[in-house]
Amino acid sequence: MPDPIFVISSPRSGSTLLRVMLAGHPGLFAPPEMVIAPFATMRERRAKLEQRFWEKGGLRRAIMDLEGVDVDQAKAIEASLDELTVPEVYEWLQKRLGNRILVDKCPHLAPEPASLARLAQWFPNARWIWIVRHPGSVVRSVENMPMAEVMLSGYSQGFGEIWHDTNRSIQNFLADIPAERWARVHYEPLVTDPRKTMLELCDKIGIAFCEELLTPYDGDRMREGPTGARAVGDPNMATRGRIQPELATSWLEGFDPQSVSAATHSLARQLGYDLAGIAPPPISQVSQALAELWDSARKIEASMRMPADLDNVEGRRFLLRMLSAGVDLFVEEGDVDRPQFHHAEGPTRKMFADNPDTDYWRASIRLGEGRRYRITGRVAKNSTYVGVLLYRKGGVCGARLHDEQFVDQEGRFDMVVSAEPDALLRGQGDEVAVMVRQYFHDRQKELPVELSIELLDAPPPVQLEPRSFAARLGRAKRNLEAVFDRTLRTWKMASTKLINRFQVLEGEELFPTPDNTYVVCWYRLGHDQLMLVRGKVPKARYWGFCLYNVWMESLEYRHHTIFLNAKSLKTNPDGTYEICIAHRDVGHPNWLDTTGHLAGYALIRVLLGDEAMEAPTTRILYEHEWQATH
Ligand code: A3P
Repeated sequence: MPDPIFVISSPRSGSTLLRVMLAGHPGLFAPPEMVIAPFATMRERRAKLEQRFWEKGGLRRAIMDLEGVDVDQAKAIEASLDELTVPEVYEWLQKRLGNRILVDKCPHLAPEPASLARLAQWFPNARWIWIVRHPGSVVRSVENMPMAEVMLSGYSQGFGEIWHDTNRSIQNFLADIPAERWARVHYEPLVTDPRKTMLELCDKIGIAFCEELLTPYDGDRMREGPTGARAVGDPNMATRGRIQPELATSWLEGFDPQSVSAATHSLARQLGYDLAGIAPPPISQVSQALAELWDSARKIEASMRMPADLDNVEGRRFLLRMLSAGVDLFVEEGDVDRPQFHHAEGPTRKMFADNPDTDYWRASIRLGEGRRYRITGRVAKNSTYVGVLLYRKGGVCGARLHDEQFVDQEGRFDMVVSAEPDALLRGQGDEVAVMVRQYFHDRQKELPVELSIELLDAPPPVQLEPRSFAARLGRAKRNLEAVFDRTLRTWKMASTKLINRFQVLEGEELFPTPDNTYVVCWYRLGHDQLMLVRGKVPKARYWGFCLYNVWMESLEYRHHTIFLNAKSLKTNPDGTYEICIAHRDVGHPNWLDTTGHLAGYALIRVLLGDEAMEAPTTRILYEHEWQATH
């Protein structure tokens, strides 16, 4: 009686396919996995299969085939073998094979060197077929296998190392087996050139080649089995219908060679698989983009050195705020097919000299290619100002309208935004965002604007997908860098050129409201100094005066008075005013609290003013000097 041929491999290496191919050979008997080889006795096996019940069917299926019986009879026969040792069961099987050789496919052996060694002792003349598959295909197939965690309990720690651990164990085992008694077959040539591969295998293992080896889907071959005697092995094999050469590479898309250990790379190389040459999977683009975003944030943080401690600690907070703004802008609110208006700034997200008196409603859009957005809503009668502005690539201001130009008698509006000639708000075709700004003089009395946006004829929603996700993260990174770059350049300019004097600010760099005129000063005070600012409020839709830190964030306005507008400012009968910027309440009616900032911006905005703006004057005093006269 010839010793069996054992087929060993890591999981998901194509061993079921190979088993069924071999099952067509008239000189071989190759049943589904019987799961007897790893045990010394059937009692041991029974205990194990109480837990892994789905592996009970293979031996029964073999018995049905050998004895020509049904499931129940096969179960009874299996029970009669209960007290035997495993070698006795092999003998029982072999007696029923006639001249055929038993082919026992058992991937469970791979992680169990002791069982392999014991089998080699039981069957000194056994032959071994080791089927190897690309580690990338094995890892991906394992990861995507239903109930992988359960099926693979007993294997190594991480799925990523299953390929290495099992194949290394087989390699070590076969090192002591004479070369003429084992063969290594690779999955890829088996499915792409089965004839050549089978010819070589037969030659190596010492069996005659026959055509049936190439037709795994002809005849029964125990590919399946009835309830109670299900064929154990790859559950999908039976339904594939043909040898599928495309599976040689299809799993590799999505495999990240970085995800497996150096030991895997090295063993793969020995076995003829070059992992270094594999293109990284799409998800690695996301990892890369995230790494670059973190890197950028880290560099910004590392180079953050402001003169004052307070500015340095607020800088770290600003960095986090801008990171979170980037996530909102480009990840959460980046869907240009289903845009929504969201607050771009607020008490905990401030940039480029936000106005505490303004709501900044932003939505991501993409104009061009005939795309048309509809913005509808309503502005309350007593509203200070509502303006709509498009932003083009790179933050360039585009087309804009203010409320008088788009709101009807009832305060309602319904406008089309597109690059087409009939649009009320017509873009150039490269617009990326729309911003609706609402200014308030008194948030208690003025109602917020009602606002909604939709893309007309929007395509159906799409799933999150690595390439576009990575692109969005790239935008978040560039945005973060641009915010810091612009903020720091403005700080350098202002803190050297505008010390304690007001000047009209030009340029679009800081995302202004284009209907505004800005007048800015860099105040710098000693611990015991204050600044008096004197000027006149011009005729305008809105006038406001606000203090900012070096990051152009308005100071904490929820708990301190750091800004005034034309309504809250106390003016003289002739319309002139005096504002006092001070670290403490010195009893001035227009005191603005520096909240401990010895230097920063003081900014005046005049919205739709109809007079030429005159810069106010400034005077620095010691607190005691002011107090002496009041
Ligand atoms: P996937 O279904 O995950 O692709 P094993 O039998 O050792 O567990 O290996 C299972 C793998 O064998 C399957 O994994 C599949 O790739 C491969 N396989 C099964 N039937 C096949 C067929 N007809 N043609 C090509 N490959 C097949």
